[in-house]
Parts: sequence; C-alpha cells; structure tokens
Amino acid sequence: MKGIILAGGTGSRLYPMTLSVSKQLLPIYDKPMIYYPLSTLIKCGIREILIISTTDDLSIFQRLLGDGSQWGCKFQYEAQDYPKGLADAFIIGDKFIGKSNVTLILGDNFFYGGNFEKEILSRKDLKGGFIFALRVSKPKRYGVIEFDENFNAVGIEEKPKNPKSSYVVPGIYCYDHTVVSKAKTLNFSDRGELEITDINKAFLNETSLEVKVLNEDTVWLDTGTVDSLMNANQFVETLQQRKGILVGSPELSAFQNNLITKETLSLLVESMTESKYGEFLKLYS
Ligand code: DAU
Repeated sequence: MKGIILAGGTGSRLYPMTLSVSKQLLPIYDKPMIYYPLSTLIKCGIREILIISTTDDLSIFQRLLGDGSQWGCKFQYEAQDYPKGLADAFIIGDKFIGKSNVTLILGDNFFYGGNFEKEILSRKDLKGGFIFALRVSKPKRYGVIEFDENFNAVGIEEKPKNPKSSYVVPGIYCYDHTVVSKAKTLNFSDRGELEITDINKAFLNETSLEVKVLNEDTVWLDTGTVDSLMNANQFVETLQQRKGILVGSPELSAFQNNLITKETLSLLVESMTESKYGEFLKLYS
C-alpha cells in the first residue's frame, strides 16, 4: 500500500493567514498540520508517500519533510498546477501508484483514536475501494452516504441540500490501482472539480466499495476553518499537556511501527530539545 497526502488548494477559508503560507503548514498546537495526516499514514503501515501541493509551496514541504529517510520512509513530491479536485491526486500520482494499492489522506484532516489504522493495515491486498463513514451534525458540508435497511451503502452524494443520512465520508480513502483509470474518465462537477465522490460512486456501481463505520471513539476534525483549526489546537493541547499523550508525531509513529530504532529516535530528539515538541518527544526516547 502506497500513500498520498493532498496538501494543495487555496486555503481561502483561512485568509489572510493562508495568503502567503500553505494551510497545511500552519501549526496545530506544536507542529505543522501536515504532521498529523503523515503520522496517520505511517501508523497505517505506509512508508512510500507522495506529497502533492501547489507549485509555489512544494519546495517548502520538501524542506520540512525531506526524502523521508530520517523516519524510515520514502517521500516523493508532485505539484498540482491548480485545484482541480481531490480525484486529480490519482492522475498526478499515476506513475507513483503503478500497480499498487493506494491510500489518499487530505492534508487538513485530523484523526485520533478508534484504532482505524488497523483496518487499513489489514487491507494491504485490497480489491476495489475502502472508505469510512462517520456520523456528524452537519452532513451537508461533506460527501454523504445513503444506507439501505441492512446498513449497506447504496448511494453517495457530494454536499447534498437534503442529506439522506448523517453519515459522511472523512478524508481518508483506500483503493486498488484501478482508481487511476477511473479518475481519468471523470468529468468536472458543477463546482469545477474532479470529485472523490464520483470515484466512490464508480466503485459502488461495480459493487466493489466497502464502507466501514468508524468507532464512536474516533475523533475526526477537518481543520479548514478558523473554528475547526482552533478546536484541533485545543484538542491536541488537552491530550498532550493534561494527559501526556503525544499525537501527530511522525518520529513517534515511525518508532512505534519499527521503522526507526530507539537510537535514531534519540538522535532526532537531540536536534529539538529547546522546543515543546522536542520536550514531549524526549519522553519516548
Ligand atoms: O473532509 C472530507 C470531505 O473532503 C469529504 O467528505 C468530501 O466528500 C470531499 O469532497 C472533501 O470536501 P471538500 O470539497 O470540502 O474538500 P476541500 O475543498 O476542503 O479540500 C480538502 C483538502 O484538499 C484541502 O486541504 C485542500 C486540498 N485540495 C483540495 C482541492 C479541491 C487540494 O490539495 N487540491 C484540490 O484540487
């Protein structure tokens, strides 16, 4: 299973903060936003990761994350020339994906708890598509799933005016390599995007889409607005300061998934002892 982090877009809902800085580089408490989806992918057992961002921002992500070898991973980078939609990630990632399975995670999505990474780990040899569903209070803002009486997914709609359920699709998606050819045949939607929802519909039409409802104790935040960004900051602060649990750390995820040794972790910590992040990380080294 390979991974893609989609970290482009305009960030317009966060203007003026994102006029000169990529949204996914803004801090959530003590680390850049992209650290969170990155450590989620590492926890899913994924080491080969393609990072997609805008032409302007790509070099900054490269400066931050390097080639991934420091965390036992392998990173590649590709630019998206303008925000054509989430499904464009599979067209940009065509060569990178090849014949592998792939997990796409959105660069502004924050996941915590629920042990859902194990579900992805166990689908390395996936055939078709695998997505999650989660109940929210305002489904209209998302891709909404319709279930039949046996709780089988029978439809998905992007930002519907009249949602058929309160279950929405969070920003982590697993597919086999046929996702690339599916993405290439999509038409642009009314909002001018290649929609991930149309990809999911294509798998659903082939009866090869598995939808798994996330445990109630899974926390999912998309951090694309000022309020949700603030919520995420407070949530991480509470976990780290009050409970002493470090979240969203690629170093820690790499260590816990045996990608780096304790000695390497200690070396990584040494370069950061003056920061809060380094202080937390030291507790594990
Ligand atoms: O957050 C989950 C939702 O993500 C799903 O429930 C929806 O089905 C899906 O369409 C998507 O909703 P949005 O359309 O609201 O996503 P947004 O435009 O906020 O983009 C998500 C992230 O992807 C954001 O960090 C920016 C980045 N992005 C977006 C587009 C359209 C890109 O890097 N390139 C793009 O072309």
